[in-house]
Amino acid sequence: QPYIDDCLANREKNSESHFELTNNYYTHYKDPVQVSDPTNINMLVNKTFTLTSDFTPNQIVPISVQYASDGLQISSEAANALADWCKKAISLKDEMSGVSPVRFYAVSAYRSFERQNDLYNNYVKSMGQEKADAVSARPGFSEHQTGLTVDLAAVGSEGLSAFKDTEAYQWVLANCNDFGWILRYPEGKTSITGYEFESWHYRYLGVDLAKAVAESKLTYDEYYMLYLNSWNDEANKYPREVIDTQNKKAETNQEAKPEESTPQTN
Ligand code: DAL
Ligand code: ZN
Repeated sequence: QPYIDDCLANREKNSESHFELTNNYYTHYKDPVQVSDPTNINMLVNKTFTLTSDFTPNQIVPISVQYASDGLQISSEAANALADWCKKAISLKDEMSGVSPVRFYAVSAYRSFERQNDLYNNYVKSMGQEKADAVSARPGFSEHQTGLTVDLAAVGSEGLSAFKDTEAYQWVLANCNDFGWILRYPEGKTSITGYEFESWHYRYLGVDLAKAVAESKLTYDEYYMLYLNSWNDEANKYPREVIDTQNKKAETNQEAKPEESTPQTN
């Protein structure tokens, strides 16, 4: 509601090409909010929405070493979706070599709060806090803690940053939604996601939601706030009459404005 009040207060100044508000609504790491339902597969975890240090996902299972580095775990539904995705990739045989050109596997999956804490602190030590914040989540703010996220690497191409230059990446990107995954930190969206482009980091949402998010062309941060956040629940909706009254007032004001005089020519 404060956001809508702010929109209404600024509506005279705003147009299709100009949008400003008086207050800030999305500042990374300022006023964090606890994820209200961390059992919901659609939960948003970012630099505002956080998980508690003791949160561990339900139904976490080991990922088969066919599809991941040894010892990784993930939520069971996501594990099945990852297996289907990898199997499809492996089945695409190159005509000449008989080997799939797009084999990939997970190199990171579920990470506990403590593990994320160690990782983040190592980044801070090696590159300073500002750069660390652009590439690594603070503990409690990492999607890896949800058990619904993987980092991928291509077989035969070492390292996460090399992934974007592989054939595997092109295929993964084009097909991820069909298996229920989305690219979470796209290129050019750092001001929204808070992270540099990560070609390797995929979030599981289930097929229907992954496709809807992809179709929207929005980041998941935006999609969630627009369509899934609890303020969209019927009970929390801004009353229609208030919006109608404001619309009426704005129309009346416009009508009341004097006509601009046409410039004189001679
Ligand atoms: N690299 C991602 C942002 C994480 O640390 O969760
Ligand atoms: Zn990641």
